[in-house]
Amino acid sequence: MTDLDIRQQPAWRDLGRLAAQMSRARVDSMFAHDPARAERFTLSAAGITLDYSKQRVDQAVMRALGRLAETQGFHAARTALFSGAPVNNSEGRAAWHMALRRPDDAPLHDEVHAVRAAMAEFVDDVRRGRWLGYTGAPISDVVNIGIGGSDLGPRLICDALAQLRQRIHCHFVANVDPADLDDTLIRMDPERTLFIVTSKSFGTAETLANAQVARQWLLDNGASEDDIARHFVAVSTNEEAVRAFGIERMFGFWDWVGGRFSLWSAVGISIALGLGMETFDALLAGAHAMDNHFETAPLETNLPATLALVGVWNNNFLGLPSHVVVPYAQRLAAMPAFLQQLEMESNGKSVTRDGEAVRVETVPTVWGSVGTNAQHAFFQMLHQGVLAADVDFVLPLSDAEAAADDRERQRVANCLAQAEALMRGRDTDALVDELTREGLSGWALEQRLAARRFDGNRPNSMILMDRLDAWHLGALVAAYEHKVFVQGVIWNINSFDQWGVELGKTMAGQLLGELEGSREPADHDASTDALMDRVRRAWGR
Ligand code: F6P
Repeated sequence: MTDLDIRQQPAWRDLGRLAAQMSRARVDSMFAHDPARAERFTLSAAGITLDYSKQRVDQAVMRALGRLAETQGFHAARTALFSGAPVNNSEGRAAWHMALRRPDDAPLHDEVHAVRAAMAEFVDDVRRGRWLGYTGAPISDVVNIGIGGSDLGPRLICDALAQLRQRIHCHFVANVDPADLDDTLIRMDPERTLFIVTSKSFGTAETLANAQVARQWLLDNGASEDDIARHFVAVSTNEEAVRAFGIERMFGFWDWVGGRFSLWSAVGISIALGLGMETFDALLAGAHAMDNHFETAPLETNLPATLALVGVWNNNFLGLPSHVVVPYAQRLAAMPAFLQQLEMESNGKSVTRDGEAVRVETVPTVWGSVGTNAQHAFFQMLHQGVLAADVDFVLPLSDAEAAADDRERQRVANCLAQAEALMRGRDTDALVDELTREGLSGWALEQRLAARRFDGNRPNSMILMDRLDAWHLGALVAAYEHKVFVQGVIWNINSFDQWGVELGKTMAGQLLGELEGSREPADHDASTDALMDRVRRAWGR
C-alpha cells in the first residue's frame, strides 16, 4: 500500500483521460465494432459468471484499472489478507474469514476444528429430535436474535435456500422495535423454540434487550430458570458476557472474524440447524472455491477483482454515485440489505489507513431490490433519471424442469431484457415511426418523443449463478467480500473496522437515560431538545 495521493498516480491520471474519452462513447457501438466484446469482458469462476461487457469499459480502461490496483499494492495486500496478517490496522486484527471455509483436511486452527465439530454435534442433536425443550418436546423453531453481521448473512442464506428446509424453521429477529420479536413470538410454541443469541461482542443493546424479553417469555410460558439452558444458546467471542447473561452453551469465534464476514463461523449455526450441516459445508466449500480463484488468478481474469475495478471506474471516473443490486430471484430478496452492510460498513470511510483524508470518493450508495418487482418501482429512474447508476443484475440459472413454468421463463427474460434496455436505450428513429403510426406529428410528436425516448448507455453487469444452491451462494458471497477488499486496497482504507457506528450507539444510551429520567440532560441542540419533549409528552412523562 502506498501513501502517495492516489490522484497523483500515473494510472489514476490515465483513467481520468480515458474517462473523458469514454464520456462520448456508446457501448452499443462498441458491440457493433467488436464481435468478441461479450466474450472479452466475461469471466467465470467457481460457478459464477460475470459479464461486464455492458459496462462503459474497453481494454485500455481495464488495463489502466489493473495498473492502479497494482500500484496501490493489490498483490501484497492480497498475500497479507490470506496469510492472516493484521490487515485491520486500526484494531490490530486479521480479517481471516477465509480460514473458516478451508476444507476439513486443510490445516486449520485447532479451535476452528473444535467449534465446527461441536456445532455439527449440536445441529445433529437438534435436527434428530434429541435436544428437547422443557416439556420433552423436540425443537421445531429456531429464532436467531442478532443484528448487522450477526443477522444479515444467516438470514440471506436461510431465505435463499428455503426449499431445503426440513422440520426446523429458522426465524430472524434483529430490530429493537418490539414489533420484530413480538410478531415472531406470536407464531412460536415455547415448548419447541430454541433461541440463538448471536453477538460477536455480546454487548449490542438491541440484541441483549430482545434476548431478555425472549427469556422472560419462556418463563411466562411455564419454563423454569433451570429450563433456560435447553432453549438458549449463544454465538459470541465474549464468553464472560454470555455467562453473565445466564447462557451455558456457547459456540465461539474469534476477533479475526469481522461481524459482516462472520456467517462462515458459528454465526451460521441457524443455517445448519434449518438446512442441515451438509448445506452449511457446501456453502463453505463454494466460498473456498472462490477464495482459491481470488488468491491465485491474475488481475485480468480475477472475478472479484474485476467487480472491484469496474466499481472504481463507475464511481471515481464516470461519477456514478450509486450502485444498484437487483437479484432476479425472490429467494435472494435479502441480498441488497446484506450487501449494504458488507459494502457500506466496510468502505464507507473518509480517512486512509494512515489517517490522512481520502481525497477521492469511496463507496457509492448501495441499494436495490428484487426483480421483477423493482421494474415496477425504481427502474423508471434507472432508465430515464438524470443520475445514472451502475447496476449488478444477479441471475440464478434454472433447469429445464423449472423452465416448464411460464413465470420462470418470464423471470429470466425480464432480467436479460432490462440489462439490454439500459445499455441500448430506445432507438429514436423507431420511436418516431411508432408515433407517426399512432397519428402524431409536429409539436405533439416532439413532445411524446421527448417523454418516451431514452438514451441508454447505462452501465450494468450480469452475474450468473449456475444454480441457486449452497455451493454457488457461498461462491457469490465470497466474490462480493473480495470485491470489497480490493476496493479498500485501491482507496487505501481499512475495510475491516466500523468506528462510524459507535457515536450513535453511545448517544442512544445517553438519550435513553434522559428520556427515562435516569440521566442528567446533556447539552443538546434545540432540535433534539424539542423532539425529546414531544416524545416525553407522547409517553405521558
Ligand atoms: O453496526 C455495528 C456492528 O458492530 C456491526 O459491525 C456488527 O455486525 C453489528 O454491530 C452487531 O454486532 P455484534 O455481533 O457484536 O452484536
